[in-house]
Amino acid sequence: MAQLLDGKALAKQIQTDRLASIQTWQANHGRPPGLAVLMVGDHPASMAYVRNKEKACERMGIASLGKHLPADSSQQAIADEILALNQNPQVDGILVQLPLPDHLDATALLNLIDPEKDADGLHPINLGRLVRGEPGLRSCTPAGIMRLLDAYHIPLAGKRAVVLGRSILVGKPMALLLLAANATPTLAHSKTQNLAEVTRSADILVAAVGIPNFVSQAMVKPGATVIDVGINRVPDLVNDPSGGKPSSGKPSGGKTRLVGDVDFAAVEPIAAAITPVPGGIGPMTVTMLLENTIASYCDRLQIKSIA
Ligand SMILES: NC(=O)c1ccc[n+]([C@@H]2O[C@H](COP(=O)([O-])OP(=O)(O)OC[C@H]3O[C@@H](n4cnc5c(N)ncnc54)[C@H](OP(=O)(O)O)[C@@H]3O)[C@@H](O)[C@H]2O)c1
Repeated sequence: MAQLLDGKALAKQIQTDRLASIQTWQANHGRPPGLAVLMVGDHPASMAYVRNKEKACERMGIASLGKHLPADSSQQAIADEILALNQNPQVDGILVQLPLPDHLDATALLNLIDPEKDADGLHPINLGRLVRGEPGLRSCTPAGIMRLLDAYHIPLAGKRAVVLGRSILVGKPMALLLLAANATPTLAHSKTQNLAEVTRSADILVAAVGIPNFVSQAMVKPGATVIDVGINRVPDLVNDPSGGKPSSGKPSGGKTRLVGDVDFAAVEPIAAAITPVPGGIGPMTVTMLLENTIASYCDRLQIKSIA
């Protein structure tokens, strides 16, 4: 049986550990750290993610200074909001919730965020700092994975790591963080040949493809550490046998459940350690967003130690 890497529990612990410091800072500096999540439109999954982030802020005493703009907002209107948040002294972290409606140029908008307030760690300046090995705000999901590996004392130096997926959000920064930790990373993607052979070479396998149960047992080296980044909503066939299909003219309950990119039931028996979905990387990602906001606050107020 693999050791379960419990991101939910670690995220809760990190958040609890920060509470006292945030209260002290608020008393000493007259304000708590502030995070502004900019949401455009009413994408249901995005609204749920934003609510999650706001609830986490509330639990930790971080001010939520977000804005919700209509789906038909112009590029200029959103750009103006970002520029105003850059100037707002109460705001330490800014996040533009993706995806944005199709008529907007997301990259151009993300590039307007002040790199020192870039809570998502995706601004080219922060990605450049990561490439150069300089301090900076790190992308939340890869940073959360590194924190989880560290908390469970999973050795990385000298190990072979394979990152499945090369997105700018997860795969690329993940490979760079593993490299910085002295692992030997390989980035695999949809054009990789002999994929199972590549993934089977991994001591640490990170799956970020966005395909439910993509990683089979045959793709995993026995004894590997398996990190499942995927968040895929699939029909819940146990609780909704119709699989969400309409029956007798009426829509079914349409029950769904979350699964990862790893076939957990098949892989868990041969892995040394594995993250669950849900309860693995998702909560760590949200926590790193708050950690980036706190880091930016401390930097701006010249608070020396955030440990
Ligand atoms: N837990 C969290 O907090 C969190 C955060 C972010 C994302 N996610 C989840 O993580 C997953 C990946 O997200 P993402 O934003 O990185 O996705 P993405 O931008 O869609 O990238 C997917 C990557 O997977 C690769 N891929 C697709 N099909 C493949 C195949 N058959 N074989 C090998 N590689 C394949 C793609 O290769 P190409 O580049 O060749 O197309 C691409 O590099 C999604 O389920 C997403 O919801 C979770």
